[in-house]
Amino acid sequence: MPWHFAAEQNQAAAEHAANAAAQAWREQARRAGPEGRASAKPGTRRAQPNLKARSRKADRVKRQSKSQRTAAEFIPPGASLDEVRRAAAGCKACDLWKLGTQTVFGEGARHAKVMFIGEQPGDKEDLAGKPFVGPAGAVLDKALAAAGISREDIYVTNAVKHFKWEPRGKRRIHKKPNALEVAACRPWLDREIELTQPEVVVVMGATAAQALLGRQFKVTQQRGRLLDSNLAPHVIATVHPSSILRAPDDETRHAEMASFIDDLRVVARAMKQRTRRAA
Ligand code: URA
Ligand code: SF4
Repeated sequence: MPWHFAAEQNQAAAEHAANAAAQAWREQARRAGPEGRASAKPGTRRAQPNLKARSRKADRVKRQSKSQRTAAEFIPPGASLDEVRRAAAGCKACDLWKLGTQTVFGEGARHAKVMFIGEQPGDKEDLAGKPFVGPAGAVLDKALAAAGISREDIYVTNAVKHFKWEPRGKRRIHKKPNALEVAACRPWLDREIELTQPEVVVVMGATAAQALLGRQFKVTQQRGRLLDSNLAPHVIATVHPSSILRAPDDETRHAEMASFIDDLRVVARAMKQRTRRAA
């Protein structure tokens, strides 16, 4: 896939500044202790960064060519889905591991019929270590229920498995992952697809769509249709649920939710079709 390296390099300086600011925020949050931050659910992991060791590691990662590393080197050959998930917890293929609390791997049944692919974990997902548990996840759950798709039949994951963000006051604001980060993380997604073998893949939002269906893909023009792709027997693109939350007013939000549910009904029909054929 022809990534635009020049453009990425131009972004590098800005990204470096954002990373430094984010690091400062984390240090401040660390000093403030657990009360200073939103609490994670009991039993979930929270990184306890040893900052000196981290920065030594970070230097090492930087020295190894930044743009050419991918997650492939972290994936043990012949690994099961659980083994791949465990390996992903230690991924340092791009710099985002320094920004996120933990790797947020996909979740769902081993042989889920449908895989939903988003962009990257958000603030809540980063803390919980699970995909789509925050506001975008609530929108997704509501639309799934309306379209008659059971949570048990789906596997949810993201194109990028670490939360990329920048500080704004006390909040961590989502920042779109760049093409190099998406490319670095891709081997995890490819392995998830290979190991779960979904009958339907649902790509949500431009980041996932462009990563999986090509840079020219336009979700607005091609949403809700069965697409020709070798990712799975049926592939459908739709908007990202968080775009619905960003709608400027109630009327727009309701209309966008209705269109999202319509797209998920196409998914529900594709699931049934395949089941009939297989029966
Ligand atoms: N947005 C995503 O793309 N993925 C999540 O897991 C949460 C929000
Ligand atoms: Fe690895 Fe993906 Fe995290 Fe980058 S974002 S460190 S490639 S898991």
